[in-house]
Amino acid sequence: MRVLVIGAGNMGLTYSEGMSKSVLLNKHKLRIYDTDPKKIETLRKNDAFNVFENLEDCLPLADLVFIAVKPYHSDDLFIQMKTMINDQQIFVSLMAGVTIQSIQERLQTKKVIRTMPNLPAQVGKGVTSYTESKEVSKVELLMVRNLLDTTGTSIHVKTENFIDASTGISGSGPAYVFYFMQSMLEAALKMGFSDYDSKVLVSSTFEGAIELFNQNDISPEKWIDRVSSKGGTTQAAIDSMEDNNVKQLIQDAAYAAFNRAIEMGKEK
Ligand SMILES: NC(=O)c1ccc[n+]([C@@H]2O[C@H](COP(=O)([O-])OP(=O)(O)OC[C@H]3O[C@@H](n4cnc5c(N)ncnc54)[C@H](OP(=O)(O)O)[C@@H]3O)[C@@H](O)[C@H]2O)c1
Repeated sequence: MRVLVIGAGNMGLTYSEGMSKSVLLNKHKLRIYDTDPKKIETLRKNDAFNVFENLEDCLPLADLVFIAVKPYHSDDLFIQMKTMINDQQIFVSLMAGVTIQSIQERLQTKKVIRTMPNLPAQVGKGVTSYTESKEVSKVELLMVRNLLDTTGTSIHVKTENFIDASTGISGSGPAYVFYFMQSMLEAALKMGFSDYDSKVLVSSTFEGAIELFNQNDISPEKWIDRVSSKGGTTQAAIDSMEDNNVKQLIQDAAYAAFNRAIEMGKEK
């Protein structure tokens, strides 16, 4: 299968690196197209890719086209693409907030899959949610799923509303975790730990908690109960968070991202 990725930025390159190892590509190298000459020069050093600087050389022959440019670049790109595509091609969008209908209308095409990627795909631990237009067959969807899974795991959602919702959870979510980590790092530094020790204390705590969560069928709430004893230190911290409504604030933040994704969809 001939897979083309348009846009070799954070997401495009990350997904290209994962997908380039897929057996589904068969003998074809993964194709990448970008407009930035510096990126093209760097990409050409990577033997796993077939790099293009002209759309007409790579788009007409691609079976599957991943679109990984920023949403505000898509208008110009789509005008250019429109004259070179055919009905059999499948377009997989990684763009936040851009609806399937808007892609179908602007590209004058039918087979569109919309995804919400996330950054841990860079280390093979990403989670991508995806949904499709009705013209995409089950087999085509499975093929795309297999490609997405090369970057971690994926979940199929029934409607685009869940794509916008997953923007609020997994798409933007790594930043919430980093925010929490940064807060703990700053607390550790204030307590007098060195940079190195603060980093180890925080990252090991996150890693350990995630591992406990993954290896047991116990909810985070139950884990909190297990590690907190009445009148103890952990309970003091949890009480402080509850008094400050931290849980509600985090939920508000997730909804802010969700609502922004919906708004962005309307802007296009
Ligand atoms: N980053 C995230 O965590 C994240 C999370 C969820 C979803 N997304 C979505 O992923 C998409 C890509 O984001 P990103 O962070 O990877 O963006 P990025 O780093 O800016 O990458 C986009 C790349 O596409 C290139 N480009 C621009 N116009 C082009 C065109 N007409 N044809 C071909 N290439 C073109 C850009 O070149 P220039 O640099 O020269 O413009 C850049 O190399 C976005 O739509 C975003 O909504 C990102």
